[in-house]
Amino acid sequence: MLRLLSALLLVALASGSALPFYNPSSRVVNGEEAEAHSWPPQVLLQYQVSGGWSFTCGGSLIDPDWVLTAGHCISSSRKYRVVLGEHDRTVTEGPEQVISVAATFVHPQWNSSCLSCGNDIALLKLSHSAELTPEVQPICPPPRGYILPHGTKCYVIGWGRLSTGGQTANKLQQALLPVVDYAHCSQKDWWGSSVKETMVCAGGGDSSACNGDSGGPLICSGVNCKWEVYGVVSFGSSLGCNTLKKPTVFTRVSAFIDWIIGIIGGYPRCLC
Ligand SMILES: *[C@@H]1O[C@H](CO)[C@@H](O)[C@H](O)[C@H]1NC(C)=O
Repeated sequence: MLRLLSALLLVALASGSALPFYNPSSRVVNGEEAEAHSWPPQVLLQYQVSGGWSFTCGGSLIDPDWVLTAGHCISSSRKYRVVLGEHDRTVTEGPEQVISVAATFVHPQWNSSCLSCGNDIALLKLSHSAELTPEVQPICPPPRGYILPHGTKCYVIGWGRLSTGGQTANKLQQALLPVVDYAHCSQKDWWGSSVKETMVCAGGGDSSACNGDSGGPLICSGVNCKWEVYGVVSFGSSLGCNTLKKPTVFTRVSAFIDWIIGIIGGYPRCLC
């Protein structure tokens, strides 16, 4: 679930007359089906409902015992589990590993009443270690403080909505999104002051993340590794997921390296 926020609607949002979009099912808009198991760090996050489990968000495996997701994906009253090695949510294909979440750590400064304040990041401790297979592999974060150059091509990945207000995807989707740097993204006709330097913008044209992609990764070719997880899907525009000049906004992982190390108790055991 991508949380949606319109710069124009910020006042209305604060007054509660137009709640931010918070739908547990959304997907990449104008993307394409990913080749099955081509993104082995991708995580499907589910929470328990009566009689089963409901899809709520994406995430990234960054260590055999830890999943990175968005703060807004986590509610303290819910019980969570992750599915690793997933492609088609409706079929058991073989490589899936279903692991319950033993503990959730939402960033202490995350404020669910203030999406544009940032800190929309959480870590999930798995109840047992993921078995590393070709389909299940932890991805590394970028170096501390690293800022991607404007126009860098990255991928957003998820099972979120295929179009604004549309259906979520059964099969994992990917979309190529160019990074929009802070100087561009914070311009008045883009996201203005709703975007902070601890966020990364990507897209703003035809493709975007959408509801249900929340918590999932923005994956870019890395500085130290072939691929690194630069962003966590946080919010988009309530005017539509792929609104022009309203790129998808991600939590910038490189701004939270010390927090991640502090929670995990060391650098994540990721594969480069
Ligand atoms: C959370 O954000 C709201 C809206 O901006 C603000 O009124 C409130 O004081 C914030 N809460 C905390 C604990 O900072």
